[in-house]
Amino acid sequence: MPRLKWGMIGGGEGSQIGPAHRLGSGLDGLFEFTAGALDHRPDAGREYGRRIGLPPDRAYGDWHEMLEGESKRADKVDLVTVATPNATHFEITKGFLQAGFNVLCEKPMTMTVEEGEEIVRLAQETGNICAVNYGYSGYSLVRHMRAMVARGDLGKIRLVKAEFAHGHHADAADADNPRVRWRYDPKQAGVSAQFADCGIHALHMASFVTGQEVESLSADCVSCISSRELEDDAMVNFRMSDGAVGRLWTSSIAIGRQHGLTLQVFGEKGGLRWTQEQPNQLYFMPLNERLQVIERGEANLSPEADRATRVTIGHAEGMPLAFANIYTDLAEAIRARKERRSVDPAANLYPKAEDGLRSMAAVFAVAKSGKEEGVWVDARPPMFR
Ligand code: NAI
Repeated sequence: MPRLKWGMIGGGEGSQIGPAHRLGSGLDGLFEFTAGALDHRPDAGREYGRRIGLPPDRAYGDWHEMLEGESKRADKVDLVTVATPNATHFEITKGFLQAGFNVLCEKPMTMTVEEGEEIVRLAQETGNICAVNYGYSGYSLVRHMRAMVARGDLGKIRLVKAEFAHGHHADAADADNPRVRWRYDPKQAGVSAQFADCGIHALHMASFVTGQEVESLSADCVSCISSRELEDDAMVNFRMSDGAVGRLWTSSIAIGRQHGLTLQVFGEKGGLRWTQEQPNQLYFMPLNERLQVIERGEANLSPEADRATRVTIGHAEGMPLAFANIYTDLAEAIRARKERRSVDPAANLYPKAEDGLRSMAAVFAVAKSGKEEGVWVDARPPMFR
């Protein structure tokens, strides 16, 4: 089967997330890196694109040029990844969706709830795929947690505890460094800093694994480094659509914590714990039994976990392979669309524009609650109420 054609906006030389997308999209031989507008500096983007193997006529200077160039081609890209800074996601995603392309947008999908609703409507109207890169939902054992919850291994879910707390912005002496400062400046970052950057990953994971949506929340937002206008730490309590209680902690001043994404789910019949820094083990405690360590790749896991595992048990798998699972799902969804057939349900797990929109509604709810002493607020986007 010919490989699908893949393009990327942003993710240029030295960027944080570009390499993980290139690894993830290329890993299974499903996508070929065909086009890109990789840098905010046109010449640097063209030069870097050519250097890493793009055909010269498809190493574009900016996204408008790429949209125009690719739209004219019979062999246009099948998927465009948007890996630019947050404030540009909306216009680029909108532009490519309108022109008939499938898009994988980095999180947060937009800067406002209204923009998020526009993207959801556009994806629905055009029928084009719009995915959002909550890439941690691609880990094999995260998908296994989801499958265990769905088949009732834990009974009814009572409580979910999500964390995404790191310590990489904890140095007050570095707070004025321009690379750090913009993140806490409302003019550049929007209404939220740490929750919008990291908290939404943890919140998405809570919904992905439990199969429940966040309905309302109460937030305590703090700037531990007092010169910051936006929060560098937040504790969020939330309630979910099938009655689960949620607790979420996100922080950027937690010195000693590295990536810090962890999910715990507690039901009537058992509890689960998974942490992103040791993603190949899942801890399962069935009620009144002994603790079990579930290893990625072991026999008799769920089909969802098996589909998302690549190397045999005992060999570590990490973040680029989780991203690769999102790309594998997208390849199946794009092929199904081309072949006018339904998508393999096991592949239909990639996060969608609706998830990106729900995150934006949560971001605004956290900002409002944080300003109003933790008042409980509706966290659903208006179009889903
Ligand atoms: P970065 O600042 O390291 O890199 C951004 C890249 O985009 C640079 O190469 C820059 O030249 C390029 N760029 C900027 N504006 C552009 C434009 N208009 N057209 C073309 N290229 C442009 O940023 P980073 O950390 O890689 O983040 C990018 C996005 O990825 C952000 O939205 C961030 O939230 C998200 N992200 C997602 C993660 C995940 O786990 N899903 C992890 C890290 C970042």
